[in-house]
Amino acid sequence: MKNEKLSLDKNGRFEISLKVNGKPLSMEVKPSESLLEALRKYGYKGTKKGCDTGDCGSCAILMDGSSRVSCVMPAFLAHGSEITTIEGLGTVQNPHAIQAAFVEAGAVQCGFCIPGMIVSAKHLLDRNKTPGEGEIKHHLDGNLCRCTGYVKQIEAVKLAAKKLRKSSK
Ligand code: FES
Ligand code: FES
Repeated sequence: MKNEKLSLDKNGRFEISLKVNGKPLSMEVKPSESLLEALRKYGYKGTKKGCDTGDCGSCAILMDGSSRVSCVMPAFLAHGSEITTIEGLGTVQNPHAIQAAFVEAGAVQCGFCIPGMIVSAKHLLDRNKTPGEGEIKHHLDGNLCRCTGYVKQIEAVKLAAKKLRKSSK
């Protein structure tokens, strides 16, 4: 399905099929529409629009398991993909270990950057549950935060790694 040729309908839109947070979804998108705009239009508003130019990381999502900035990605490129947004990780009642760690570490101030930061951290921790501080910094260097100074967020990722190691035992 991924490489299938899409054609525009009579309204000049593509109809794409994808999975968002494990659920199949069809979306009608304009050729110029970003994946960020499309996700927000379909209700996934946890993914934030910051710069809209690919520079701040607040719109990060996982596409087939890898983190991507969705504001500069045309939505039609997501046809056939599995997308995970922050809503797919956990809920207030049942947070993902990374979400819980960010709260516990006091890494959240205004919160605007946090969905993107957590999604980027998930990409890292899915691949490596014992990342060093340098690796965490390197991995999160595309996620800008105007409030925290990053120290607590790096601590949060270390704490999340610990929690995930514990839960996989
Ligand atoms: S909103 Fe996408 S990188 Fe800033
Ligand atoms: S917590 Fe405010 S921008 Fe990061």
